[in-house]
Amino acid sequence: MAAFSLTLVLLVLSLAHSARSFHTQTIPLNWTTVSTCAIDNPARIIAGDITTQATANTPAACVESCAAQGFGYAGVEFGNECHCGSGLVGTLQNAPASDCNMACSGNGNFSCGGAWRIQVYSFPALRPGSWAYQGCIADSLAAPAFTSSTTHTFSTNLDLVNQCLQACSQAGATFAAVEDAGVCQCSGSAPVPAAQKVAETACNSLCPLPGNAGFEFCGGVNALGVYKLVG
Ligand SMILES: *[C@@H]1O[C@H](CO)[C@@H](O)[C@H](O)[C@H]1NC(C)=O
Ligand SMILES: *[C@@H]1O[C@H](CO)[C@@H](O)[C@H](O)[C@H]1NC(C)=O
Repeated sequence: MAAFSLTLVLLVLSLAHSARSFHTQTIPLNWTTVSTCAIDNPARIIAGDITTQATANTPAACVESCAAQGFGYAGVEFGNECHCGSGLVGTLQNAPASDCNMACSGNGNFSCGGAWRIQVYSFPALRPGSWAYQGCIADSLAAPAFTSSTTHTFSTNLDLVNQCLQACSQAGATFAAVEDAGVCQCSGSAPVPAAQKVAETACNSLCPLPGNAGFEFCGGVNALGVYKLVG
């Protein structure tokens, strides 16, 4: 019994030890992480997927390679694979980040996907699907614009509108809204009928655009810039 327990303890310890932890690599500033780990399949989830196997593969190296070839999507998988393409096929299915457990061929401090697991990146200028701006709508704790929404914040508010649309697309939401250049809300239903449309000038909080391309409006104080998925 004692020997059995010891074996069990050793097994648990070795399992704990083998669960690697990776650092997150900084990718070029004008690219966005679409998924820290998504499920890939033999038909490939990146549209028009071009796969290369690279001995120096890392997320940043793959993003740079795909960007140099004019692609807007990049993904790393199976340690040494870099996938470039023009978009996503169907709805992205996220997997636990721990599924992306293979070290990058170019730097073992970073993860580069796993077996049929891919870390996906995109250039923010490419918006997922087709979203139409609905206007500037008042939002406060006392009178929320959405009855039920999920809130997202990101490590940077660079092109927040696009990051928000991407997050809401992934969540399967049909409404996306940015507030005061910092917060993104995703909702499966339209703003409540009582939600007041306010003057566009109330949505005057600015977010930076990539490549020093200036700024965009990202909602305002107690005001949502609302987008609707139209296709
Ligand atoms: C991996 O990380 C360690 C500790 O942070 C660092 O000393 C080492 O140089 C890194 N390796 C590479 C290849 O960057
Ligand atoms: C993206 O950022 C890189 C530097 O990180 C820059 O060289 C490149 O011109 C930028 N591209 C665009 C389209 O903004």
